[in-house]
Amino acid sequence: MLTSVVVLDPLENNRKHILHAVEILENGGVVALPTETVYGLAADAFNAKAVAEVFSVKQRPSFDPLIVHIHHAKHLDTVASVPEEFAEAVSGLAKEFWPGPLTIVLPKKEVIPDIVTSGLDSVAVRVPSNSIMRSVIKALGKPLAAPSANQFGHISPTSAKAVQSELDGKIPLILDGGACSEGLESTIVKPVFDEKGKVRIAILRSGPITIEQLRKIAPVYKEPKKKKVDDDSTEKKLESPGQLESHYAPRKPFHLWDGESELVLNPKKRYALLCFEGEDSVLIDQYDWDKVAELSPGSGRMAEAAVRLFAVMRQLDEDGEIDAIIAEPVSDKGIGIAMMDRMRRASSPLA
Ligand code: TXA
Ligand code: MG
Repeated sequence: MLTSVVVLDPLENNRKHILHAVEILENGGVVALPTETVYGLAADAFNAKAVAEVFSVKQRPSFDPLIVHIHHAKHLDTVASVPEEFAEAVSGLAKEFWPGPLTIVLPKKEVIPDIVTSGLDSVAVRVPSNSIMRSVIKALGKPLAAPSANQFGHISPTSAKAVQSELDGKIPLILDGGACSEGLESTIVKPVFDEKGKVRIAILRSGPITIEQLRKIAPVYKEPKKKKVDDDSTEKKLESPGQLESHYAPRKPFHLWDGESELVLNPKKRYALLCFEGEDSVLIDQYDWDKVAELSPGSGRMAEAAVRLFAVMRQLDEDGEIDAIIAEPVSDKGIGIAMMDRMRRASSPLA
């Protein structure tokens, strides 16, 4: 299959391209398109066969449910029910963060095919803010089921070029809307009752909407302290299905340094250092790096680092002059929590 990449200039009228994407979607096809977080691989959320194509193109296991994207918060009740006890918290979140990078997990409505939710009775919903994504949903008149547009387990794409290197030849169309403005997947939350029966927001996946921002709307769920048990693996963490230990991973060895151990590097291999900013890097002068990549060159800002994380990981992964990547931890606060989550899941022991 030939994959066409169409660049959408924000200063032009892109109606023609939007309608082209809609035509493919109406015929049960899939299209890659930008959102503010990462590029998505979209299908009509009401069409089980089209959604099956998303799973097949990505080689995604069927136990990993998709997010349903709607055009406006007022359409939430077409795909999900909001239990009365949670209505205040959900409407507070929707008012504050939609359109934007927040996904809310709620009981699903019948119209959503089981394949979208991997058979769960809940559905993950968000209202994206990217104008291309919004135009396509609006013109289609139906929600879009869309995971990140990468091969399962690999780094999420934050540019059309990155989508191309993941899915070229497997999909008919990529709408190129430039670089994603957030660069990390949406924060996923679920309203829950805590042990005392109080309404709380549980964070299932960290992302651009931080815990501090969520706390302003409703109290955030804290896992109760673990009781002393011999085998703590029996205690299941509150997490989304599909958030596997190994995820977001480059194809080259990627190792997140723990901040203290001595690194024993193989002199025969070429290593790249991935650090926040060269100036405050601990490792930069300790080894003879073949390459140094900074997440926030110059400005030292977490927001810049978050936007660039996946793009820089991908550049290093595709760089023919290095064999392995060593990443330095970033501050585990604010958006740094989501960055550290992605880097931990991408990391493997130093071989
Ligand atoms: O920013 C994003 O969320 C991007 C863009 C494209 O919108 N999408 C994205 O999708 O990251 P994906 O498929 O890579 O991750 C979706 C994750 C699943 O892996 C699963 O962990 C969680 O959403 N999820 C989906 N439905 C769920 C449900 N019913 N309950 C709990 N978690 C769910
Ligand atoms: Mg993904």
